[in-house]
Amino acid sequence: MADALRIGIAGLGTVGASVIRMLEAKAEELTRQCGREIVVAGVSARDRNRDRGVDVSKARWFDDPVELARSQDIEVFVELIGGEDGPARASVKAALEAGKHVVTANKALLSRHGVSLAAAAEKKGVLLNYEAAVAGGIPIIKTMREALAGNQVSRVFGIMNGTCNYILTRMEAEGISFEDCLKDAQRLGYAEADPTFDIEGHDTAHKLSILTSLAFGCKISADDIYMEGISNITQADIRAASDLGFRIKLLGVAVKTDSGIEQRVHPTMVPTSSVIAQVHGVTNAVAVETDYLGELLLTGPGAGGDATASAVTGDIADIAKSRPGFQHGPVFGWPAKELAPYKRARMRSHAGGYFIRLTVHDRTGVFAAIAKRMADSEISLESIVQHGDATAEQHKTVILVTHETTEAAVRKAVDGITKDGHLVDKAQVIRIERAA
Ligand SMILES: NC(=O)c1ccc[n+]([C@@H]2O[C@H](COP(=O)([O-])OP(=O)(O)OC[C@H]3O[C@@H](n4cnc5c(N)ncnc54)[C@H](OP(=O)(O)O)[C@@H]3O)[C@@H](O)[C@H]2O)c1
Repeated sequence: MADALRIGIAGLGTVGASVIRMLEAKAEELTRQCGREIVVAGVSARDRNRDRGVDVSKARWFDDPVELARSQDIEVFVELIGGEDGPARASVKAALEAGKHVVTANKALLSRHGVSLAAAAEKKGVLLNYEAAVAGGIPIIKTMREALAGNQVSRVFGIMNGTCNYILTRMEAEGISFEDCLKDAQRLGYAEADPTFDIEGHDTAHKLSILTSLAFGCKISADDIYMEGISNITQADIRAASDLGFRIKLLGVAVKTDSGIEQRVHPTMVPTSSVIAQVHGVTNAVAVETDYLGELLLTGPGAGGDATASAVTGDIADIAKSRPGFQHGPVFGWPAKELAPYKRARMRSHAGGYFIRLTVHDRTGVFAAIAKRMADSEISLESIVQHGDATAEQHKTVILVTHETTEAAVRKAVDGITKDGHLVDKAQVIRIERAA
């Protein structure tokens, strides 16, 4: 049997402790599968005395993760600290420069520095594995990087934040407000005390930026993402969506268009009959459309210690199975130096259907004024529904669903309607996404 693979794990929180637990519980199976034992030779965290429910007494303790990353005693550095800079970046960089393989679950780090880290790994001929960084336990990275080689991807989209999907699912199922759902999610541990990062779409954007690079062979561009969160989704939207045969999901979408790549994260109407609309609660799902394969949908647990440990362990096992002298594949499917510059499509040219909900003063001429603004922007309507507003007798709700049009046309029409002075509240505009 080959010599044991000696690894160092930095970060012993939710994911780190679960990885150690899994490596211990599955030691025998992993040794047989990989043809060598996997030994945790070193660990690092901030607090040496904290009880983490796992035994790390046999591993050497490092106060400084960078020192662990450079240790002569390890071949693989596993970064489970988190954060786009600070100790996570410093230690991953140090490990790659020292010629060690790296496994990380850190989407923030890859979203910001993925291309330069990939170049460093490829220069040294080592692996940088990051399956857990996108959609937790779902093996979307290996699928896109390896299984879809040769396919031309046209679109990748998905539900990549369990907190948002949990909130939207409960809002629809139980008719409760966004605020009440969020409080419950926090109580149950599905949402952070400061939920901004999740509910305003940043977490989905980080993951999407990585998938975009894998899909289109371009550099990661985390700052070129149009982003809207779910905090302004109301029961009125959810009910109207349901009446029209839609469900609202927070999607991350990357599409190749004639003018460049669109990356967007926003609440989206998907047909209730589509497969992605059936993905409920904290579950994640990623869909990929390609020329040869058609549409593929992977769904499963997107977070949590065990699911994430499953992805991290798979990445470690891949390294344990690789043999010296074997040339490793590029980190983002294409060699880092061949990744094309990112070309951004303007959001104003986004083409698609739109749901527009307007709360208007109940007076004559309003309906006609709205219809005129739509016609002036050359927007063709699939449906227009008007009904009384349950909360105020003198108000009416108008719901419009457009045929395919552009973002620019919708913004022009909604600006016009707003200027006409008929609106009681800000117009609610939700994009419709085609989904099988
Ligand atoms: N949790 C999930 O479900 C999940 C899913 C997918 C991906 N991820 C990613 O996995 C990574 C870890 O997440 P997590 O939820 O496990 O985080 P966590 O529970 O907050 O754990 C972070 C760990 O990093 C350690 N740490 C912080 N600063 C350090 C430093 N300067 N030196 C050494 N260790 C340091 C902490 O030490 P102490 O324990 O001593 O404070 C802690 O053990 C993140 O990149 C996250 O995005 C998490």
